[in-house]
Amino acid sequence: MLAVGTAVIGSLQFGYNTGVINAPQKIIEAFYNETWIDRHKENIPKTTITTLWSLSVAIFSVGGIIGSFSVGLFVNRFGRKNSMLMANVLAFIAAALMGFSKMAASWEMLIIGRFVVGLYSGLSTGFVPMYVGEVAPTALRGALGTLHQLGIVIGILMAQIFGMDAIMGNATMWPFLLGFTFIPALVQCCLLPLCPESPRFLLINRNEENKAKTVLKKLRGTTDVSADMQEMKEESRQMMREKKVTIPELFRSPLYRQPIVIAIMLQLSQQLSGINAVFYYSTKIFEKAGVQQPVYATIGAGVVNTAFTVVSEKYDWMSYMSIVAIFAFVAFFEIGPGPIPWFIVAELFSQGPRPSAFAVAGFSNWTANFIVGMCFQYVEELCGAYVFIIFTVFLLCFFIFTYFKVPETKGRTFDEISAGFRQAASGAEKHSPEELNSLGADSQL
Ligand code: GLC
Repeated sequence: MLAVGTAVIGSLQFGYNTGVINAPQKIIEAFYNETWIDRHKENIPKTTITTLWSLSVAIFSVGGIIGSFSVGLFVNRFGRKNSMLMANVLAFIAAALMGFSKMAASWEMLIIGRFVVGLYSGLSTGFVPMYVGEVAPTALRGALGTLHQLGIVIGILMAQIFGMDAIMGNATMWPFLLGFTFIPALVQCCLLPLCPESPRFLLINRNEENKAKTVLKKLRGTTDVSADMQEMKEESRQMMREKKVTIPELFRSPLYRQPIVIAIMLQLSQQLSGINAVFYYSTKIFEKAGVQQPVYATIGAGVVNTAFTVVSEKYDWMSYMSIVAIFAFVAFFEIGPGPIPWFIVAELFSQGPRPSAFAVAGFSNWTANFIVGMCFQYVEELCGAYVFIIFTVFLLCFFIFTYFKVPETKGRTFDEISAGFRQAASGAEKHSPEELNSLGADSQL
């Protein structure tokens, strides 16, 4: 609990900074306008404010793209735990930039701060599921893996609540709302030194068998850890046989092609569901739908999100439909495409290719995240509420892909899962793609 709980503070930070710009959009836009007036002696043009705000929202994902892609540079060199510790430097810098942006009358500082906290969050989306996947016993891997997403959604909810007018979502307090990220960073820095390093990293990457054993005994709370050690050694032997797995290799080798395609598709299904259109912009969506207190509805979406880990203005009740629709959407999101893409990456790959796979999966996720965050307001201006039809079409395609192509990983060890793909790959010349899928990947069919 200590190890996983401390790691998912990183997820909480990611969620917090996803949700934090939703409620105070108008207030911070007003700050942008004031600084604009100071500098140019005129009101900010409407198109400029749309661009600046979309950028403030979405530059977070540009940081995320770069951060998630850099995961591999850290995890094998410094270890999983130290990587998480070091990343906090970024959280401190970001908190300072955003927290002092008002004092400095500089929206540029806020935007750069969003970028830096995006870097941190991108790193976290690799570090946390990797660390949690590697410390968890096979039987609990799914449950513990979901805690990453739970950390994210609690972070979103906290940001939504703190973003209420009466708390920090007002003209004087919003710098504290954004600077709050400092506190979880501090807590994580105090707790991480008490956490164990990943035993898989110690044994497989560092060849420190005794240390790995000691850590495992602590983690499992028993003295007999031979089964775990055995499984890790098997993975280690397997890794010795492979050369270092680079990112291009993931796509070239028939051994990894299928799992990497699955990993990417699941990340895309998560982001192109449009979930962040909700978590970035719901306050404005609800306001346009005629909801009286849009911030409360936004918090409602956050509550539904946590509990479950197109609208007309003619009729009053229709505004409630928008609330029901978004709540239902969020609920179903959190049953599947929310948590699973994050932890399935650790499951689909063995220790050798795992860091590269996380980099590629994270990159896909954050790129799609950026596209939604940046384009949503423009596409919505063009096609109104029909914007959601685009997400529907994507979801349909991902539904079909998942049904036919994604293997069941529940209850299987990392080694068993990759053995499935190995088998599939070795039969590649002899079998048709359909046979190959059912043979190796244990398709849900
Ligand atoms: C997933 C997504 C994240 C989104 C969140 C919503 O973690 O990666 O972008 O904000 O779910 O709960």
